[in-house]
Amino acid sequence: MKKRSGKELRELFLSYFEQKGHKRYPSFSLIPDDPSLLFTIAGMVPFKPYFLGLKKPEVLRATTSQKCLRTSDIENVGRTSRHHTFFEMLGNFSFGDYFKEKAIPWAWEFLTEVIGLSPERLYATIYLDDDEAFEIWRTAVGLPKDRIVRMGEEDNFWAAGPVGPCGPCSELIYDQGPAFSCGKPDCFVGCDCDRYLEVWNLVFMQYNRDEEGNLTPLPKKNIDTGLGLERLASIVQGVRSDFETDLFMPLINKISSLSGARYLVNKQYDTAMRVIVDHIRALAFMIADGVLPSNEGRGYVLRRLLRRASRYGRLLGLDRPFLIDLLPELIETMADPYKELVEYRSTIESVISVEEKRFSRTLDQGSTLLEEEISKITKEDGVILPGETAFVLYDTYGFPLELTEEICQEHGLKVDREGFIKCMEHQRKTARAASKQLSSATETETYSSIAAKLGYTEFVGYQTSEASAKVVAILKESQETPEAHEGEEIELFLDKTPFYAEKGGQVGDKGWIESATAKLEVLDTYYVLDTLIAHKAIVKSGYIAVNDEVEAKVDTSRRNAIRRHHTSTHIIHEALVRVLGSHVRQAGSYVSPDYLRFDFTHFDFISREELVEIERIANEIIQMNIKVNVFETTMDKAKKIGAKAFFEEKYGEIVRVVQIPGYCAELCGGLHVNATGDIGVIKIVRDENIGSGLRRITALAGMSAVLHYQELHFLTEDLAATAGIETKYLKEKFTSTLKELKDIKTELNKTKLKLALSQCEKITSQRQIVGDVTILVGKFDDLEAETLREVGDHLKKGFKKVLIVLGSVSDEKVLLVAMADDEAVKEGIHAGKLINKVAAIVDGGGGGRPNIAQAGGKDASKLEEALNSVPRILQEMMEA
Ligand code: SER
Repeated sequence: MKKRSGKELRELFLSYFEQKGHKRYPSFSLIPDDPSLLFTIAGMVPFKPYFLGLKKPEVLRATTSQKCLRTSDIENVGRTSRHHTFFEMLGNFSFGDYFKEKAIPWAWEFLTEVIGLSPERLYATIYLDDDEAFEIWRTAVGLPKDRIVRMGEEDNFWAAGPVGPCGPCSELIYDQGPAFSCGKPDCFVGCDCDRYLEVWNLVFMQYNRDEEGNLTPLPKKNIDTGLGLERLASIVQGVRSDFETDLFMPLINKISSLSGARYLVNKQYDTAMRVIVDHIRALAFMIADGVLPSNEGRGYVLRRLLRRASRYGRLLGLDRPFLIDLLPELIETMADPYKELVEYRSTIESVISVEEKRFSRTLDQGSTLLEEEISKITKEDGVILPGETAFVLYDTYGFPLELTEEICQEHGLKVDREGFIKCMEHQRKTARAASKQLSSATETETYSSIAAKLGYTEFVGYQTSEASAKVVAILKESQETPEAHEGEEIELFLDKTPFYAEKGGQVGDKGWIESATAKLEVLDTYYVLDTLIAHKAIVKSGYIAVNDEVEAKVDTSRRNAIRRHHTSTHIIHEALVRVLGSHVRQAGSYVSPDYLRFDFTHFDFISREELVEIERIANEIIQMNIKVNVFETTMDKAKKIGAKAFFEEKYGEIVRVVQIPGYCAELCGGLHVNATGDIGVIKIVRDENIGSGLRRITALAGMSAVLHYQELHFLTEDLAATAGIETKYLKEKFTSTLKELKDIKTELNKTKLKLALSQCEKITSQRQIVGDVTILVGKFDDLEAETLREVGDHLKKGFKKVLIVLGSVSDEKVLLVAMADDEAVKEGIHAGKLINKVAAIVDGGGGGRPNIAQAGGKDASKLEEALNSVPRILQEMMEA
C-alpha cells in the first residue's frame, strides 16, 4: 500500500465519488441549521432535510469532507489513540438515487483498489436480518461468508439522534493484525481494542423515527456514509494512532518544542499533548464558524475545551498562555481546503488569546484551592468533593465542572454534581428569563404533524406585504382545533404568508388576517420548526376555521421601520470594519422597529473619535442614497464579491445577497430598504463592552432617531430655560455650577467642623476612664465621616491611650466613627471590633482597622444610648 498524506486521501476520496457522478460540496459549517443539534456531528447533518423529503436537493448524489464536532466523550479525548472532538468525515450521499447495491461495491473498490488496503484484512458487519446487504457482500464483492458478521442494533443501526432519519448500516472493518490486539481469547470483530478497526460506516437511511420510537419508511431510500479521515490516515500511514498521522504530528512537534516534553516517552505527557492538539483544532474551527466563548450552549463547549487544553499545558510545564502559538502549524496543515482558518485568523487569535489570558489569571489560584480541598478530603478518607466547592471553582475561578471532575477523577474523587447543580440553579433563578424556544415535547409533535401535512410554509413576503392564503391549521393552547372564536389567542398556520418570521435577529412581523367571517390581529410571527411559520394571533371578531380563505396583511409602517433598522445593521457593520479593522465580525444582532443592536468582536474600547467616524460613514452611506441590491447567486460568486457571511450558508449553493454597491454585501435573508436614503438617519446611542472580546452597539434609524433627537433637543432647551441661558452655554454653565457647588460644600464643611470643634471641650470634660484608657464620646448633627475623623484627630491630640467614638445623624441615619491611638492599640483595643458592637445598638454594623473604623445604623433614636454604652462595651471586651 502506498503511503499517502491526509490531504491526498481527502482528495482521492472526493474525486473518486465525483467520478461516480457525485457533486463535491465544500464542508458545511460546524454550526448546523438544526435546532436539535449543537454541532454538526456527521457528514449527513447538512443534508437532513433531503433525507426527510422536506426539501428538494439540488443534485441526487453528493460527496463531502465534512468538519464534525462531537462532545459526548470529551474526557476520553487525549487518553486514547482514537477519540477526537473535531474530526473530518468523508462521505458519499444518495438522496433517493442509488442504494446498497452501489454503496457497498464502491466502498470496497475505493478501499482495496484506490487506497490499496489488503482485501484479506477487511471484514464487513451488517445488521441482524439485512440479507440484502449480506448478498451484495457475498456475491457482488465476493467476501467470504466468515468475514461477514451480523451484529445488533447498537452496532449496526445508525441514527443522528433519538428522532429523525435513521437506518440499518454496514461497517467495513480493517484487521490491523495481532500486534494491535488486546490479547483476550475472544478478540474479534466488534472488540473495542485497536485490532479490528471500524473504518467506514455505510448507512442505509430508510426510516424516520418519531418521539415514541416508531419507525416510518422515508419517502425514498437513501445512502449516508462516513469514513473518518484521521483513522484512514493512520492505517495508510502505518502508525499506531490517529495522532501520529501527518494531520496531527506538526502540532505535536510544536507543543513538544514549546514545552520541552517529548512525545511517546511519558504517558501523562502524551495525554496532555493529545488533548492540546485535538482541542486547538476544535477551537480554531469553531471560532472560524462563528462560535464565541460563553457560559451556555456552543460557547460553553468552546470555553470548556479551551480551559481543558490550557490546564493540560500546565501539566507540561507551560505556565503562560500558549495556545495561539500552535496556530501557524494548524493553518499550514489545514488551510487547504479550509480557507476559513486564514480568513478568520485574527479573530481566532484574539478570541483564544483573550480567553486563555483570562483563564490563566485564575487557573493557579483555582488549582491550589482544588488541590488543598482534594488533599483534605483524601486525608479523611473521603471520596466526594462538595458541590459548593465545584461551584466556587466554576463561578470564581472559571473551572468548567467537567474540568473539576476530571482533576478529581485523577485523585479517585467524585464531584457532588447535584450539589453543584443546586448552587447553580440558586444563582440562575433570579436571572433566568423564560425562553420561548423551550417548547414541550407535545408541542414539537403537534408542529411535526402539521409539517407532515403542509410540508412547509411558503414565504412570499419578499415580494409583497399582502397575500391571499389558506388556513391549514389552528392551534389553541398547543392543541389542533378546527376553528377559533372571538377573543381566543391562537397559533395560525397558512399555506403561504407575507409575514416575516423572526430569524437572523430580525423580529417577526405584526399585522392582520381577515377572512369572510373573522378579523384577526397578528401579534408575532415565528418559526416553530425549520420550515414552518406560526402566526400568533388573537381573533378580534367572528370565527375562523381550517381551510378558510384569508387575506394576510402585514403592518407595513412597522415593517418599514424594521427594514430601516435591518439595512442600518449592514451599514454599521461596514462602518465598523472600516474604522476599527477587518477583525470586526458580527456575533449577533437584534433588529426591531424601534432600535437595533449589533454585537461584534473587538478587543479594545472604542474612542469618541472612532464612534464619531463610524456614525459619519454610516450617515454618508445613507446620504448617497444608494440603491440596495438584493439577489440570489451561488456561494462562490457571493464570496467573490466579498459578501460577509455570518454563519456559513447551510446547504445548496444558492445564497441571498444584500448589497450596497460600492460599500458592502452580506449574505442575509432579512428585509431591507430599497435605497439607503430611505433610512433617513442613523444615530448610535450606546456602545458597551459585553465581555469576552465582544462589544455591542445600539443604534436608532429613521423616525426612532428623529424622536431621539427631539427628546434631546427639548431636554437641552428646558435645561437652558431653567438656567436662564442660551443652550450653547449649557456645558459651561453646568461645569461652573458643579464647581461652585463643590466650593460651597467645602466651605460648609469647614464651618461645620469649626462648630463641631467648639464642642470638643465639653467632650473632653465628660471623658471617662476604663482601666487606664480614656474614653471620649460625642454626638453631632449632619457631619460627614471625614469631618468626624477630623474632630477625632483633634481630640486625640490631648491624650495618651485614648479611644474616641463619635456619632452623627443625618437624614435619620446614623454614622459612627471610632479611633484609638497607638498606645490604646498596643493595649489590645480594636476600634473595628468595638464599633461593630456599638453599631448593633443603632441597628447597624461596620468595622475597620484597630486604630480607625466606621459604621452605620438605622435607628437614630438610640445613638445616645449607643454612645453611652461605649465604656461598658470596652470593659467587656477587655475582660473577655
Ligand atoms: N452518519 C453515519 C456516521 O456518522 C455515516 O456517515 O457514522
